[in-house]
Amino acid sequence: MKIHVLVTGSNGQLGKSLSTLINNHTYNSLQFTFTTKATLDISNQKQIDTYFQSNNFNYCINCAAYTAVDKAEEEKEQAFLVNAIGAKNLAEVSKRYGVTLIHISTDFVFNGSKREPYLETDTPNPINVYGDSKLQGERFIQSTLKHYFIIRTSWLYSEFGNNFVKTMLRLGAEKKELHVVNDQIGSPTYAKDLAEVICKIVITKNTQFGLYHYSNQGILSWFEFAQAIFNVTQNNIQLKPIPTSGYPTPAKRPLYSVLSSSKIHQNLRIEEKKVLFSLKNCLQNI
Ligand SMILES: NC(=O)c1ccc[n+]([C@@H]2O[C@H](COP(=O)([O-])OP(=O)(O)OC[C@H]3O[C@@H](n4cnc5c(N)ncnc54)[C@H](OP(=O)(O)O)[C@@H]3O)[C@@H](O)[C@H]2O)c1
Repeated sequence: MKIHVLVTGSNGQLGKSLSTLINNHTYNSLQFTFTTKATLDISNQKQIDTYFQSNNFNYCINCAAYTAVDKAEEEKEQAFLVNAIGAKNLAEVSKRYGVTLIHISTDFVFNGSKREPYLETDTPNPINVYGDSKLQGERFIQSTLKHYFIIRTSWLYSEFGNNFVKTMLRLGAEKKELHVVNDQIGSPTYAKDLAEVICKIVITKNTQFGLYHYSNQGILSWFEFAQAIFNVTQNNIQLKPIPTSGYPTPAKRPLYSVLSSSKIHQNLRIEEKKVLFSLKNCLQNI
């Protein structure tokens, strides 16, 4: 019998990346139901309950989120409604109907004061509304459910939606010179790699529930990531490094948000993917 997997927020980067995997024979044992904000609103408790009651899901992969980091500063209520209350709703129905919840969180739960990769045991201390709302979502899940995986990831990009790689490609075609922030350090992560990690957890029916970090392997600034993008695409654009203070944004961002993926590699036997390898892979798919 197939494993029935509900995907919420499937019009986003991660949701679409998951949907590209369905034709891969490795995932033949999975039967996906993809829902979007229009068909299943995770902030609507009643709708979620009815949906879970009338379907027989084994897993719920929550790709739905409010991800507009800067806008969240003025739309706090909306950010919390999706990222905190939405996560709580899914945790409650997952508990009620015996579903394993796989939820995605963010490096932005940390304040960025550390100078070595963040572990799952490090204390979160978000410095913006988005990070705060995502942390609240994590806490609701942890206090409600036992059968959950929370996977924090960082600097997600893909061939879908809006992200740094696609922005650089667009600006690279329009401009001769570009200023990019050089003092925010993190690890870019290709959404397809994360989608594969999630599917591996499901097909192996892994029961080492809990909180995990997952990102591609490599520590870069946005400036260095832009350099890598333009090297691979052989674009000679002039790149100039600037400090965060030279590119003010409404939301503060952690200066260092590298996640240590050691726990997921060890516990779940997830293969490491290097930043440059995954970037090339994504650029081929764009
Ligand atoms: N993007 C990053 O750099 C990054 C970094 C670290 C962690 N993450 C996390 O990774 C996960 C996936 O991110 P992503 O980049 O794939 O996000 P995304 O592209 O912004 O997709 C999120 C999706 O959720 C949908 N959504 C919003 N509110 C909803 C609701 N109430 N009910 C159902 N769906 C709703 C959105 O629909 P609309 O577009 O119609 O609103 C969108 O399709 C998120 O949990 C995010 O917090 C992202």
